[in-house]
Amino acid sequence: MTKTTICGTDLHILKSDLPSVAVGRILGHEGIGVIDEIGAGVTRFRRGDRVLISCITACGKCEYCRRGMPSHCEQGGWILGNTIDGTQAEFVRIPFADTSLYPIPENADEDAMVMLSDILPTGYECGVLNGAVKPGDTVAIIGAGPIGLATLLTTQFYAPANLIVIDLDDNRLEVAKKFGATEVINSADGKAVEKVMAMTAGKGVDVAIEAVGIAATFELCQEIIGAGGHIANIGVHGTSVTLHLEKLWSQNITITTRLVDAVTTPLLLKTVMAGKLKPKQLVTHHFTLNDVMKAYDTFGNAGRERALKVILTNS
Ligand SMILES: NC(=O)c1ccc[n+]([C@@H]2O[C@H](COP(=O)([O-])OP(=O)(O)OC[C@H]3O[C@@H](n4cnc5c(N)ncnc54)[C@H](O)[C@@H]3O)[C@@H](O)[C@H]2O)c1
Ligand SMILES: [Zn+2]
Ligand SMILES: [Zn+2]
Repeated sequence: MTKTTICGTDLHILKSDLPSVAVGRILGHEGIGVIDEIGAGVTRFRRGDRVLISCITACGKCEYCRRGMPSHCEQGGWILGNTIDGTQAEFVRIPFADTSLYPIPENADEDAMVMLSDILPTGYECGVLNGAVKPGDTVAIIGAGPIGLATLLTTQFYAPANLIVIDLDDNRLEVAKKFGATEVINSADGKAVEKVMAMTAGKGVDVAIEAVGIAATFELCQEIIGAGGHIANIGVHGTSVTLHLEKLWSQNITITTRLVDAVTTPLLLKTVMAGKLKPKQLVTHHFTLNDVMKAYDTFGNAGRERALKVILTNS
């Protein structure tokens, strides 16, 4: 491993939201590294190659992989830092390397590359593509963590007219403004619905993207969605949420869920290399791998620490 980082999902694991993760598991599903050793089945990489690790392991051959949905790969999917040891370590074993790693281009920025393991494909696939954002849309993103902000950056590929970002953390909302939000709302006062309705002439939004992973924010999406709208859930949920079909049955809405497939990594990599997408701005802190506990403390208290993505370097 050269560099890795911590995801909001790792925080969910620490809260016991994900029972698949056994006690003692090495966490982490993001990062870049240099190949130290290859298995017998690997044909596309050699010792010494610099590689980007996808958070999704894909065999490339099973029914789900062939359908473009490797998140549900029969022998892979999201297993790193979940059911097998992950990337927050000096070394990691990547199964199906040929179809789960990407070569890092010569002049690539390493911190930017780390953002391609998970947060950019997640924001883009689960939020923007599943939300079917179109030019002129009004899009609300609930949650301005790294995932919400990655969604905010990639939503702009489609030129939405209004981009409303909602969070409880003023610092993150400030960052959202810099990253292209047209309106930001701190929902701590319980008036977010009222404010969104005022901004949309009482119609609600075309796309509501949930990037927190708690019941309250999925409920908020249901309250602000306009007729014909899309609710795209990204958050990892540990508890059930009430679905208000008594209101929504007649609203022609679409609700989507998705575990990131990381099938858009090649296109996002090209966009980053062309300078059209600048994910390095999501990195706020650097630590050495030995200081991983400090890094967790910083990322886990993101409001206090004004933290977004923390990079851990194995030096
Ligand atoms: N579907 C997938 O494949 C996938 C992949 C990666 C991450 N995720 C999930 O995406 C979510 C976001 O990840 P992240 O890394 O940005 O996490 P994060 O914890 O850094 O960010 C969450 C944000 O939500 C805000 N928030 C908390 N409660 C809120 C509330 N009541 N109202 C409004 N905002 C509130 C926080 O202030 C924070 O800014 C997590 O649930 C994570 O597990 C899903
Ligand atoms: Zn993640
Ligand atoms: Zn597969």
